Amino acid sequence: MTRPEIILVEPMLPAIEARLDADYTVHRLFDPTGRDAALAARPRIRAVVTGGGSGIGSDWIEAMPELGIVAINGVGTDRVDLALARARGVDVTTTPGTLTEDVADMGMALMLAVLRRIVEGDGFVRAGRWAAGEKFPLGASLRGRRLGILGFGQIGQALARRAAAFGMALSYWDRVTIPGVNLPRLSDPAALAAESDVLAICVAATPETKGLVDAGLLAALGPSGVVINIARGSVVNEPDLIAALRAGAIAAAGLDVFESEPGIRAEFLSLPNVVVTPHQASATVETRIAMGEAVLANLAAYFAGARPPALVN
Ligand code: 8YV
Repeated sequence: MTRPEIILVEPMLPAIEARLDADYTVHRLFDPTGRDAALAARPRIRAVVTGGGSGIGSDWIEAMPELGIVAINGVGTDRVDLALARARGVDVTTTPGTLTEDVADMGMALMLAVLRRIVEGDGFVRAGRWAAGEKFPLGASLRGRRLGILGFGQIGQALARRAAAFGMALSYWDRVTIPGVNLPRLSDPAALAAESDVLAICVAATPETKGLVDAGLLAALGPSGVVINIARGSVVNEPDLIAALRAGAIAAAGLDVFESEPGIRAEFLSLPNVVVTPHQASATVETRIAMGEAVLANLAAYFAGARPPALVN
């Protein structure tokens, strides 16, 4: 029997890619030498494996008549048109539960990096300024600071558990009430910002949350406010955020995700009050293994004619 042909949009761990190669003919879209073959193979492609931030364009879905599954190596579905996929009988799957804890860790890491000036301190020491006797500016305590969590799903809740251990005062906004949560739920995102020193964006990217963190919300957060984003760049109005950081309308930001990746807005690179990381919140060996296993399981179920375990559409 011929092996199913699949497209891999972005690299995975070598051990996971080896397992894909063992069962499928894999066309690697990220490999310049494989791209033409991937394009030519579209009439025969039965599965696409992609990242949450990459997804797959609707034009591609429409150009693959044999496509049966888009297996996302992540939890974000914002880069795949779920309704179009369903209409064409294409399953879309994710990797729920695999990355929650590491992404929440990244939220804490960014918060610490910004408030405790970790990146700045590293540059200060390397530049010989400490040795030269210069004074390093004081940071700000996490303890006692008010953390507002925008989006209280799995990741938001995992962040709350960590922040509570750091002695932060917590509140959240979510479009739904989360049962069993004994924390203040603010009536809307602006009210959350007004009640927070740090606003952590953990909400899924949807048409409703697009540009949600805008000039008005940043003004509500205020001049000592900090924005942390471990969700999606599209939730933020980036020109508004850049203007607020420049003007001192907020104090600082720690950003792992951006509207356009990896080519982020150049302004972010010249702002001293921003810590930027390359969408690395789920990028640990342990989590990427777990995510890869979940992708393999979703594919295996689909090709066995069963319902994939993490079907989302
Ligand atoms: C990954 C993500 O970095 O889960 C998501 O939606 O964006 C991240 O966990 C990504 O899926 C791998 O490309």
